[in-house]
Amino acid sequence: MIPPMELYIDTANMDEINEAAALGVLDGVTTNPSLIAKEGVDFHTRMSEICAVVSGPVSGEVVSLEHDSMIAEANDLLQIADNLVIKLPCTVDGLKACKTLSDRNVRTNLTLCFQPLQALMVAKAGAFLVSPFLGRIDDIGGDGMELIQQIRTVYDNYGFTTKILAASIRHPLHLVQCALLGADVATVPMKVIKQMMHHPLTDKGLEGFLADWNARKQ
Ligand code: G3P
Repeated sequence: MIPPMELYIDTANMDEINEAAALGVLDGVTTNPSLIAKEGVDFHTRMSEICAVVSGPVSGEVVSLEHDSMIAEANDLLQIADNLVIKLPCTVDGLKACKTLSDRNVRTNLTLCFQPLQALMVAKAGAFLVSPFLGRIDDIGGDGMELIQQIRTVYDNYGFTTKILAASIRHPLHLVQCALLGADVATVPMKVIKQMMHHPLTDKGLEGFLADWNARKQ
């Protein structure tokens, strides 16, 4: 059976996480150093707060650049909660750290992925998630969606089980295209989550139904 597309929220803001969790369809959370810095909070405290609200995978990113210090940071983060996923950059040291952690059955999210060979390598290293940043590719005149398509094909060609987590989502059309291409997960800012259930014709149609209902002859 094909698993349903998963929806994560891309934020470290507790109000947004609580609001998204209340929808009943939130599967996980992704954070990054910029999102944590924006909140002005202690990193470990905030990760603990998020993991208490969301039972699905919650990604926390290391800031070290070398394998050994990445692993030391990961070991500290793993004390926080069982659903914490270690986010590592798609660099040579990130790849090695991914392999080290995967061999210990620790789930990883390989971030800042911009080309299919990075995705191939991290899948070989046992990554749980790979995060192609499609919005940032679009920002420089590229085609972020082509990257999702390429990774989907490569993974399907070889049966890699690493989940494609479409990241850097900027608008609802990105989500539509990701779903059509078979991205396993999308991590989405609150602004776009709010847009997902909105259509002006739904509002207009409902307004018409209620106007007719209220004007009916009793
Ligand atoms: O968290 C990773 C990614 O989703 C960041 O998105 O909008 O900063 O490119 P953005």
